[in-house]
Amino acid sequence: MMASAGSIPIKARRELDLMREASRHVGEILLEVRERARPGVTTGELGEVAARAIRQRGVESSFLGYGPHGLPKYPAVICISVNEEIVHGIPGPRVLVEGDIVGLDFGVSVKGWHGDSAVTIPIGRIDGKAAQLLETTREALYKGIEQMVPGKRLSDIGHAIQAHAERAGFSIVRQFVGHGIGKKLHEPPQIPNFGEPGRGPRLLPGMVFAIEPMVNVGSADVRMLEDEWTAVSADGSLSAHFEHTILITESGPEILTRLPGSH
Ligand code: MF3
Ligand code: CO
Repeated sequence: MMASAGSIPIKARRELDLMREASRHVGEILLEVRERARPGVTTGELGEVAARAIRQRGVESSFLGYGPHGLPKYPAVICISVNEEIVHGIPGPRVLVEGDIVGLDFGVSVKGWHGDSAVTIPIGRIDGKAAQLLETTREALYKGIEQMVPGKRLSDIGHAIQAHAERAGFSIVRQFVGHGIGKKLHEPPQIPNFGEPGRGPRLLPGMVFAIEPMVNVGSADVRMLEDEWTAVSADGSLSAHFEHTILITESGPEILTRLPGSH
């Protein structure tokens, strides 16, 4: 049974074990997909790599068919967002070329319990600004994770993320947020990647959050493509996205989707 603090669910040990298992599959499959990403490969082919890995492992996609909010159902098992695409890009015929940055966002469930993670990777050599964007966005994720200690407040996470990204001169996307995760891919609370510190509920052991900053080189404004899923930066500037699923424990954050060699 699910205990809860306010509306934020506290997970039981058995539930956490299933989330650890789902999250490990997510981390391993992301590493597999990363390895296949190189110039000349299409995003659709990378989507097939992820779909095959799901079948082989007998786990369930968290993304395929997702869409409770009046949108067309998400048609793939992974989101692949290239360059100015911020998030939720749909795998297809686009061919990756040297210099691209590619966001890979992926989730699976095991016996109904979810894990969710994203990484943005370089294709071959990328320019200095793009490299700095990737580095800063990953660091911003970890600044947020550092705040996931019992007794801190929810908004401390987003504040730390925003401060780090803006210190580097980049902007934080506001239309998309991190989220609680567990029996559903998206649970309360919503976790903005910006804001004042010291607001919102206190963090408690047993809460599990997916923290996912999206950072643009230029303005934070978002434009949606015709497919109704792909979000791009309104000014066409590069965007990066990193995400982990993290458990709050008595002794601090446990990053469930992190493996040796992963982001
Ligand atoms: N990490 C993404 C998010 O939480 C996953 C989106 S899944 C999709 O928004 F199916 F909605 F694309
Ligand atoms: Co997510």
